[in-house]
Amino acid sequence: MSQGMINIAYIGASILFILALGGLSKQETARRGNYFGMIGMGIALFATIVGIVTANYALLIGAVIIGAVVGIILARKVAMTQMPELVAILHSGVGLAAVLVGYANFLEHDASLMGVEKTIHDVETYIGILIGALTFSGSIIAYGKLSAKIGGKPLLLPARHWFNLILLVVAIWQGFAFVAANAAEGGNALLPLAVMTIVALLFGIHMVMAIGGADMPVVVSMLNSYSGWAAAATGFMLANDLLIVVGALVGSSGAILSYIMCRAMNRKFLNVILGGFGTSSGGSSAASGPAGSEEDIKAVEAEEVANMLLGAKEVMIIPGYGMAVAQAQHTVYQITKALRDKGVKVRFGIHPVAGRMPGHMNVLLAEAKVPYDIVFEMEEVNEDFPQVDISVVIGANDIVNPAAKEVPDSPIAGMPVLEPWHGKTTVVLKRGMATGYAGVDNPLFYKENTRMLFGDANESLNEVYKAIVA
Ligand code: TAP
Repeated sequence: MSQGMINIAYIGASILFILALGGLSKQETARRGNYFGMIGMGIALFATIVGIVTANYALLIGAVIIGAVVGIILARKVAMTQMPELVAILHSGVGLAAVLVGYANFLEHDASLMGVEKTIHDVETYIGILIGALTFSGSIIAYGKLSAKIGGKPLLLPARHWFNLILLVVAIWQGFAFVAANAAEGGNALLPLAVMTIVALLFGIHMVMAIGGADMPVVVSMLNSYSGWAAAATGFMLANDLLIVVGALVGSSGAILSYIMCRAMNRKFLNVILGGFGTSSGGSSAASGPAGSEEDIKAVEAEEVANMLLGAKEVMIIPGYGMAVAQAQHTVYQITKALRDKGVKVRFGIHPVAGRMPGHMNVLLAEAKVPYDIVFEMEEVNEDFPQVDISVVIGANDIVNPAAKEVPDSPIAGMPVLEPWHGKTTVVLKRGMATGYAGVDNPLFYKENTRMLFGDANESLNEVYKAIVA
């Protein structure tokens, strides 16, 4: 394959990746966006394997087959609720790849590079390994936190900001040492590189360990961004334009997503990164006891809920992580359809961080074929609750917690939430009184106009559906 053909294939793949990102921004076009991405990746792989690789085909094909088999098994096995963990562990793979490519590049460097060119190449290698190492270790910790293998509570070392600052200074200092040692005849550049790698690994671990449960969405999108920059840095090391473009696309879209997440949660990006949110144990935290007394909890049966829904004019459904766990989206759709057929106005209110990954609820509702035009963002419906007769909160907790507005020292204070308590009646479906991801008790469950329907969301909703159509 000529260089010209490779360039054309790379430009085509880059355009397809941009179209993929554009498509993924809306539910209606998301499927098409995925196809664009798949075709783009196919073209990129083909052009690279046929056009650029000249030797070691057996090794390459062996690795591609192993990668494909692992990918297929994982994709088939993973439950929708485990998606965020899968994404986190895949990010760690990108980080590790950047580290390994960086070391390979350093150990077998291009001897023809001289002067400024060599310095630039050394800096690329150094930065690539640095971003790769912190992406790798940070993503592994994120995987542990998202899969509940590591507790969600933030680890706050006494002088954590000083610790971060020291790591930063050591990384910069070792960078200068690396470039100087590489330029000097017989200099040992491997030592500063190894020291920096350890520092970056430590920084990745510390950064994610220090982040509180409620702020994990920002970390997931931030690591997504880092994995993009790690790929871009690898592209510089390998002088591969496509990898630079793709890395920059992933890096910048991840950064934009982090910004959107921070805005949605009313957090300052820098504060989240430096840790400390989700840390106070204010009046409403689980640690300081429940947010109300047991007598205030009013449990109801499925039949009562069905009657309430049939008597309502306006219903707002608020899905959360529990809907994903119970896989209740199909039953939710059946109920929605039955109620709409009977003339009840049904809408969905979606919180930006409901579930465990961006767009989690939208994906589930789209899978169940809930029409897009009745699914609304939080800001679009929050003012409407006074007109809502019944709000049905399905396996959601943090995203409907009034403590975010009412308790100033709550770990989720300041985070915008859906406000069903302004409506006539709220029905909450969950199995017990457990807290949500942020570990904060929820005063909504004790309010006068709240009814609790205890049990697995799908089982409860099945009962409700049967009673509606009976
Ligand atoms: P959560 O606050 O985690 O609450 C989910 C609730 O669902 C739990 O209280 C649980 O109570 C209930 N539940 C679990 N399984 C259930 C089942 N089978 N049937 C019925 N209920 C069930 O979820 P949320 O309100 O969606 O809020 C999301 C949280 O996750 C936020 O704190 C957010 O910051 C965090 N987070 C989000 C993301 C993204 S990007 N979306 C990423 C990481 C973290 P019971 O155990 O009592 O049933």
